Amino acid sequence: MPDESVGLKQKQILFCITGSIAAYKVCEIIRLLRKEGAVVQVMMTDAAQKFVGPATFAALTGREVLTELFPVSPKAGLEHIELSLEEDAIVVAPATANVICKAAGGVADDLVTTTLSVCEQPTLFVPAMNSRMWQNPATAEAVTKLRARGIKVLNPEHGPLASLHEGEGRLPAAGKILNAIRELFNIPQPLRGKQVLVTAGPTREALDPVRYISNRSSGRMGYAIAESARDMGAEVTLIAGPTALPDVPEVMLKPVVSAQDMAVAVAETITTIHPDFIFMAAAVSDYTLENPKTEKIKRGTDDLRLSLSPTTDILRSIRGTSDAIIVAFALETENGEAEARRKMETKDTDFIVLNYANEEGAGFEVPTNRVVIFSKNGEKLEIPKDRKDRIAREIIRFVLNHKSAGHYRASKK
Ligand SMILES: Cc1cc2nc3c(=O)[nH]c(=O)nc-3n(C[C@H](O)[C@H](O)[C@H](O)COP(=O)(O)O)c2cc1C
Repeated sequence: MPDESVGLKQKQILFCITGSIAAYKVCEIIRLLRKEGAVVQVMMTDAAQKFVGPATFAALTGREVLTELFPVSPKAGLEHIELSLEEDAIVVAPATANVICKAAGGVADDLVTTTLSVCEQPTLFVPAMNSRMWQNPATAEAVTKLRARGIKVLNPEHGPLASLHEGEGRLPAAGKILNAIRELFNIPQPLRGKQVLVTAGPTREALDPVRYISNRSSGRMGYAIAESARDMGAEVTLIAGPTALPDVPEVMLKPVVSAQDMAVAVAETITTIHPDFIFMAAAVSDYTLENPKTEKIKRGTDDLRLSLSPTTDILRSIRGTSDAIIVAFALETENGEAEARRKMETKDTDFIVLNYANEEGAGFEVPTNRVVIFSKNGEKLEIPKDRKDRIAREIIRFVLNHKSAGHYRASKK
């Protein structure tokens, strides 16, 4: 049953680590799983412990690491049998040629292989080995056998190996492994293989070295879009003005300060990642001080007049530079719908998300929002007040459901 409302939150994952040089890389994957709310139980083979000590994984998971089939002080129950009931899914990463062949042959001679022979949960093997080991007919046959049984085995990546030779055998990138784990839980991945660019947060326009003009944007809406797009399988780049929010795991963050920084970062990112979707959720300053003072402005008795000039209109500036589906955000205080539609028309965006600055529980600085999203084709969806993460998912779903309505610029995908 698809369960995208909670992502990996509260999912119980048995993470088996075997004796590959890539064992150190899974520290990061386990950290990311925990950050996303998964409950991770680590099990290690003897060989795995030669590469990274169990203490590292105990600290990363907050749980004792299981290593012994025959512990010195056995518990009343049989741990490998209990795990077969408790866990939601099993990940074997890095998976050695040895464990792959043993699992395919039903060998159960240590805690990891005995557990694998008992458990029937969705299972993922993430191989990492020398390319010759990967190409060895015994390994290839074992992989085919496991796949035929419905067990997911990722292909290792091509690149420099520990031996410094080039070849197929590297542990896949963290994002790929996490997406494969999401697939184990049937978390839908409608954005798999897509590049998504999100802007978020406020910008700051300097007046002098210590003062600036900014706005009350917390960045929460953009960060929620970035997180939801990631959960749906996208590779996400987040260009964010100054916020107090923690980084979003697996999302490439490009921090910026001023509207001009953001304009430059957006233009550069478009040329490097060629995004499929752009969500412009940042509250970019419309005006800036052309020549901010290089020294602190002193208190005086006369009025201080600042002359502000318009900043680059980022939406207009990227017109014609990208084939992406563009989703703009409009924060209005009055005539919301008319203003939002006007903005979508004049800035030639495919969608616009309207939210209100002067409504309780919506707009800036709060964890909730209420929005209305319009498509260029005239479709409209009112999303009632809800948490910003759920609103983000609804926005992306609406965009995905209406993006092929045939009203885009000719070059659009
Ligand atoms: C330095 C070193 C690096 C190794 N790296 C790998 C590896 O990346 N992949 C692999 O399949 N085996 C690798 N091996 C071999 C395994 O550790 C060996 O086959 C071991 O028996 C695997 O045991 P396990 O599957 O129970 O963990 C390596 C061995 C050494 C000494």
